Amino acid sequence: MPKKNILLLAGDGIGPEIMAEVKKVIDWFNVNKKLSLEISEELVGGASFDENGTPLTDQVLFKAMDSNAVLLAAVGGPKWDDVEFSKKPERALLRLRKEMRLFANLRPAICFEELVSASTLKPEIISGLDILIVRELTGGIYFGEPRGIEHIENGDRKGINTHVYTSKEIRRVAKVAFDLALKRNLKVTSADKSNVMEAGLLWKEEVQKLYDDSKEYKSIELSHMLADNLAMQLVRNPKQFDVIVTDNLFGDMLSDEAAMLTGSLGMLPSASLSEKDKHGRIRSMYEPCHGSAPDIAGKGIANPIAMILSFAMALKYSLDFDEESDLLNEVVKEVLKDGLRTADIMEQGKKQVSTSEMGDAIIAKLNNKI
Ligand code: IPM
Ligand code: MG
Repeated sequence: MPKKNILLLAGDGIGPEIMAEVKKVIDWFNVNKKLSLEISEELVGGASFDENGTPLTDQVLFKAMDSNAVLLAAVGGPKWDDVEFSKKPERALLRLRKEMRLFANLRPAICFEELVSASTLKPEIISGLDILIVRELTGGIYFGEPRGIEHIENGDRKGINTHVYTSKEIRRVAKVAFDLALKRNLKVTSADKSNVMEAGLLWKEEVQKLYDDSKEYKSIELSHMLADNLAMQLVRNPKQFDVIVTDNLFGDMLSDEAAMLTGSLGMLPSASLSEKDKHGRIRSMYEPCHGSAPDIAGKGIANPIAMILSFAMALKYSLDFDEESDLLNEVVKEVLKDGLRTADIMEQGKKQVSTSEMGDAIIAKLNNKI
């Protein structure tokens, strides 16, 4: 089998702990399914800043561009609060997204049946929940120019960011959402603030135009919702949604909200994908939806499941191992069914386990499948 390169960027906080569990899983697939996945590891975020004075070296960026998939755990933490803005750990993430042109960020919010009662919402509201947020990831206010902090008259200062989208950027991400909806429940909700922002109005118009112009999307039901209303609807009745497509900033917020509906941020993976280049290659990066959780770092209690499921997404979207991806998703469910829980999803009557015990339990389930 041809070798495939996976770059592991563990980053900061709980990153190294959860990445260690993914490494066990990758090893298992290499040994037992002969996948020939070659891993290499590099520093990113605060860890890279401490070592190299920059949160992302060019060398690591090039390596990321060259790999079949990047797995990134998490970056950031209070240790780097006073670091100059351009050197903050988060800049690594944003530069990777921008330079790898990862414009489409897929963030599923799936409620595992076993965890229904871990959510703060009533079970009937979230049981069976399966929505997918498609977040635009390389445009909008995160990257728009002009930006900065300026000194103005009377010693006052002005902070500037620019929310900007071209029709091409909007259509490109809307197409991803429609194509995914075709494989799911044929429903797309596009979120914008077209009542306030011109860029929001353009967003709405372009999504609608793409839909109207494309015969292949006729079976899909498209609706538009104001982003604030959508935030409210997500807690009122989240099961009305299938695929949600939205811009970078709204996607950031709505995906945290959607993730928490399911009980824990510690469970949800994400995929960030580029367009095909001229050789038909897609660049990709896979990350858990949660952050570096510095408050629990080093304690061995973090939930490695979002990271492990991010690898499952990589198996499917970048490495062409659909069956293996399904297998990994299945064993995660089985482990939950057995009552094993990390602290973030712990409930009465269940068995609390550490980060590595959760990883080992997943490996044990995989072993049962040989
Ligand atoms: C996310 C994170 C990042 C973002 C931060 C860490 C820069 O919140 O991936 O959702 O805002 O995009
Ligand atoms: Mg976020």
